[in-house]
Amino acid sequence: MLVKPTPEGARDYLVPSRVNAGLFYALPQSPQLYKQLLMASGADRYCQIVKCFRDEDLRADRQPEFTQVDLEMSFVDEDDVIAVQEGYLKRVFKELLNEEIKTPFPRYSYREALERFGSDKPDTRFGFELVCVNDAVRDCGFRVFADAVASGGDVRGICIEGGAERLSRKDVDKLQDDIKAYGAKGLAWARVGADGIASSFGKFFGEAELLEFTKLFSCKYGDLILIVAGKRAVVFDSLGFLRREIARRFGLLDDARRALLWVVDFPLLSFDEEAGRFSAMHHPFTAPNPEDVALLDTDPSAVRARAYDIVLNGVELGGGSIRIHDRALQMKMFDILGLSREDAESKFGFLLEAFRYGVPPHGGLAYGLDRLVMLLLGEQSIREVMAFPKNQAAVCPVSGAPGEVSREQLRELALLAE
Ligand code: AMO
Repeated sequence: MLVKPTPEGARDYLVPSRVNAGLFYALPQSPQLYKQLLMASGADRYCQIVKCFRDEDLRADRQPEFTQVDLEMSFVDEDDVIAVQEGYLKRVFKELLNEEIKTPFPRYSYREALERFGSDKPDTRFGFELVCVNDAVRDCGFRVFADAVASGGDVRGICIEGGAERLSRKDVDKLQDDIKAYGAKGLAWARVGADGIASSFGKFFGEAELLEFTKLFSCKYGDLILIVAGKRAVVFDSLGFLRREIARRFGLLDDARRALLWVVDFPLLSFDEEAGRFSAMHHPFTAPNPEDVALLDTDPSAVRARAYDIVLNGVELGGGSIRIHDRALQMKMFDILGLSREDAESKFGFLLEAFRYGVPPHGGLAYGLDRLVMLLLGEQSIREVMAFPKNQAAVCPVSGAPGEVSREQLRELALLAE
């Protein structure tokens, strides 16, 4: 059902049962562009259940072919989208699992999520929060720590309650190996015992200094402190992995608990070192925070996006944003992303053209349907909830897809010259 935009009354529609009234089924090539265009054409709400195809590294919660429940609303801001989604999830949990979930869900800024949990999809069912010790180690005798800070990196750690007993020297060595995958060069540790502190870096600290240092982690006898030094992203990724991995080993990942939360204030852009230019953290149509627009010219990496992710027990369930609806701003965004005017016109001319006539401000969000089902069923792998999942090589073991395409078929589709 397409209805005309109704700016004054739009909020009245924003209850889940009414959003469902605008349900559409479609198989567009780019679900995001498809719904953007529909909104540009004047739809005031839109929902699609849509097949997506992505060429990404496979993980336990990822498949190359998956399904999204994707929706969009006009004349909304972040709070509207979030309120509708909280109502929707409340209903899903009640109707499918007879569980009451408490709303509103807590919101964490991207920065807070990283600084406290080392992840932009934090699992808050357990502690082991990150502690930044940059100030304490800036001038210390241990070069690995001091150099990390001097070169603009970080030194951060986590305190594992009871870890001194439960994690052996061998376990810590193995964890050190594991975090090499995130770029970590090592894992410093300190065991806090009643008879003193044993640590991998103690010889560079005086006894009193070491005691003071461990106090920064609010630790007790029997605790284990794990510290990573290096580039900020490496430190966050490594500690984010460690806190979750150790929680798993200690049996702290209670599936009966539902730690639902929002992550907001993502950066709009990230700098792609390899390509030597910025790329969009979410997608190129995501609106910048109005307070940060001036920074687009001076400090693009500091611009916050009007984007949000919904996270359940450390897994990203869905994500979305408020979109750009202004032609000049969209052109500027393409420009920052290194898209020439000609390319922008040839790739997205239809959207830029629509912007000339005035497009309602709009925003939305998409859930990974398979991922949501996986979590609702307490499964550890998305493959458990798909009929014919692909294997690690992105091949369907049942049908052998993807198969060979004949030259004739390619010719038919004009993908092969005669
Ligand atoms: P995003 O890329 O965050 O946003 O995807 C939304 C949700 O889709 C699910 N998902 C996946 N599920 C299984 N396998 C995958 N490979 C996979 N990739 C993503 C996740 C994720 O949170 N168009 C935007 C949404 C918007 O801006 O409205 C989008 O696709 O659960």
